[in-house]
Amino acid sequence: MVRQLTAADSKRLLAHFIALSEDDRVLRFGQRTADIVIENYVRGIDFVNDAVFGVFDSNLNLTGVGHLAYLPARGDDEPRTAEFGLSVLDTARGTGVGSALFARAAMRSRNSGVGTLYMHCLSHNATMMHIARKAGMDIHRDYGEADAYLTLPPADSASILAEMFEEQVAVFDYALKRQVRHANTFLESLMPSL
Ligand SMILES: CC(C)(COP(=O)(O)OP(=O)(O)OC[C@H]1O[C@@H](n2cnc3c(N)ncnc32)[C@H](O)[C@@H]1OP(=O)(O)O)[C@@H](O)C(=O)NCCC(=O)NCCS
Repeated sequence: MVRQLTAADSKRLLAHFIALSEDDRVLRFGQRTADIVIENYVRGIDFVNDAVFGVFDSNLNLTGVGHLAYLPARGDDEPRTAEFGLSVLDTARGTGVGSALFARAAMRSRNSGVGTLYMHCLSHNATMMHIARKAGMDIHRDYGEADAYLTLPPADSASILAEMFEEQVAVFDYALKRQVRHANTFLESLMPSL
């Protein structure tokens, strides 16, 4: 379930990025990234103009996060371009979280008038290269880095409805997890020895 995040999720977003290993931070941000840089990055996320997506586990920790940033349009009639970056905690990898985040970003891009979805990664990032190839992205490699491009068709009523439905289901799933978590906390407070 991929839900769109808001500024209210910032604390959990930060915890997600801080939990990434040094190597994963290099893969995600293209360079070694100290905690303070991550804190500034999260503080600077524009939740209004960009779209940030997350996948939550049953404890409401963010196991996967994707950030879709819109690049400035070249002209009024030019289709927009958006850049996508994502990360999944190593405990949740290989279960489709990364692919689900990517699919959601592609859907949002299409529905918001983006003609080209772009990703920049290190070319030795075999998993990301696999996801990009599977999505039919055009990949250009240069000096150990890779740029991947996906050309998107214009939105139609089916793509808009599909995204609305997916978001509603994800919001419902999140609310359910939160209820279960509150109930568990309440029960634990009544029976601390359990
Ligand atoms: C890249 C990343 C987001 C993938 O997340 P994930 O949840 O494990 O991805 P998924 O489970 O959806 O898909 C992984 C796919 O890659 C394949 N894969 C895994 N390791 C692979 C490898 N070494 N080489 C090739 N393919 C590989 C899996 O078999 C799976 O393929 P399938 O969907 O055809 O079955 C995650 O590994 C990550 O966060 N890495 C660190 C940060 C990063 O690299 N971000 C991308 C920079 S933009």
